Amino acid sequence: MLGNFSSRNPLFAQWNPARPLATAITGKLRLGTFRERLEVGAFERPYYAYCVYHSADLAKKLGYREISMAEYGVAGGNGLVLLEQYAEEVSKEIGIGIQVYGFDTGAGLPAPVDYRDLPYHWKPGFFAMDEARLRERLKNAKLVIGDIRETAETFFDQYEPAPLAAVMHDFDFYSSTEVALTMLEVDEKYRLPRIYCYFDDIIGDEVELYNDFTGERLAIAEFNERNKTKKFSPAYHLITRDVPQQWYHQIYTLHDFEHRHYNAFVSENNQQLPLES
Ligand SMILES: C[S@@+](CC[C@H](N)C(=O)[O-])C[C@H]1O[C@@H](n2cnc3c(N)ncnc32)[C@H](O)[C@@H]1O
Repeated sequence: MLGNFSSRNPLFAQWNPARPLATAITGKLRLGTFRERLEVGAFERPYYAYCVYHSADLAKKLGYREISMAEYGVAGGNGLVLLEQYAEEVSKEIGIGIQVYGFDTGAGLPAPVDYRDLPYHWKPGFFAMDEARLRERLKNAKLVIGDIRETAETFFDQYEPAPLAAVMHDFDFYSSTEVALTMLEVDEKYRLPRIYCYFDDIIGDEVELYNDFTGERLAIAEFNERNKTKKFSPAYHLITRDVPQQWYHQIYTLHDFEHRHYNAFVSENNQQLPLES
């Protein structure tokens, strides 16, 4: 019964009380393909897994041989370890090289610049990293340690990364995310025409009260305002799914309409709608 890892399998149907257990086992034992596990939600961080898989799939269709993925805001490293693991699996399944980068001060949150960094919710020093311990755990992912205001200046020259395909934004602050987003305005040789992005801090609760005028949401709005041919868009295909998930609202795709590969055909080749009798 577990052999069919699809949402059409009754074991993984929403109404089935055995679903959480079946999903947990599927995830733990990594049963089926990465794509199949994505379909039944068998990942600790389905939003990371989703971005990794679909950005690699797009890159492959566009003919890229190697791409990069980044996490902005690493803290202890739980997210980066998963990102590295997902990238390794997807790299094999899709047949494309994937580099992984993690950006962090190493010392936790810097001082907030002003109200836009939500000092009512964040304090300097939150989320400090045990760098030596994390480096021991990582296999291939590269840690870029330092304030993003400095590392953003040298990253592309220093690392010559493969084109960015997916980015996990978890810097918490407006001021840090604003800089991270300017890195997506770099020369197109470092970027895919469409980039999958996850934003961790745009929903929250009654304490955070994330809104369009502070934090990560403001950074997104300002990016869209200043760029006439590059735009972040919500993932409408996710937020309209029958069974809603909060993270669907945290996925955005960045479109660069002038990228030389933006118009390359990546859809189904054989599409006809003959008149029915
Ligand atoms: C919430 S934590 C990240 C959590 C991590 N993504 C995870 O899933 O476990 C936010 C991190 O952003 C980093 N950060 C915030 N502003 C930064 C900046 N200007 N430069 C570098 N790192 C920054 C902090 O050091 C902190 O570790």
